Amino acid sequence: MGNRRPLIAGNWKMYKTPQEAADTAKQLVEQVREVADVDIMIAPPFTALESVSRVIKNSPVALGAQNLYWEDEGAYTGEISAPMLKSAGCQYAIIGHSERRQYFGETDKTVNQKIQAAIQIGLKPVFCIGETEQEREAEQTLSVLDKQVRKGLERLLPEQLDTLIIAYEPVWAIGTGKTATEDQAQEVHQFIRSLIEKSFGNDLSKSIRILYGGSVKPDNILNLMAMPDIDGALVGGASLSADSFSRIIKFKG
Ligand code: 13P
Repeated sequence: MGNRRPLIAGNWKMYKTPQEAADTAKQLVEQVREVADVDIMIAPPFTALESVSRVIKNSPVALGAQNLYWEDEGAYTGEISAPMLKSAGCQYAIIGHSERRQYFGETDKTVNQKIQAAIQIGLKPVFCIGETEQEREAEQTLSVLDKQVRKGLERLLPEQLDTLIIAYEPVWAIGTGKTATEDQAQEVHQFIRSLIEKSFGNDLSKSIRILYGGSVKPDNILNLMAMPDIDGALVGGASLSADSFSRIIKFKG
């Protein structure tokens, strides 16, 4: 974990109505009221941003979006822009999640455009990268990540990246119950940090937060957080209940 402030983020994916989301968020706020040394974020579906935003006001829980489109406005049916998310109360935006790359045709190039749009408006991007099972078996993990980082952050300057967060989510560990071991995750996180150092310098590589995602649960978070280059978690399934998500947030006990 180094000396960086941990971030525990919940990605609610396509779950919960506005009312269900507000109910869970309300329970969460009650359970984490005393937490002061961990940043907390939840990313509900777009339709629940407003209801959740109302119940997390003045709490340690911040709001995030799961995606955005890079133009500010225009004839782009079905899309939501970064300024719209900002005005809906979002502080963070998850960008380039593997499910978006896999099912919705996102590429390193569109991910790059989205990161630029988020930074421009002052949303903190949670930039997702990760290899598939096939790529890991073919020993391509590091080259895949190298390409995703290089292309995803193309044309950005170190001073623009001080709010950027990277989430390493091995695709084979998402929703499968198969977590990377803490040693496997640490090895990759250290590699990602070295990529940042090479492209953007030592200062950013030391300060940037790199989250782990993929079957994070209350019973494996502590070992993951004990690793020097793991600065938090991006949690899917286990963030949908306030009880299990708050146990992850309170990993220190
Ligand atoms: P799970 O925690 O359900 O494996 O999902 C991880 C994820 O995709 C978070 O973005």
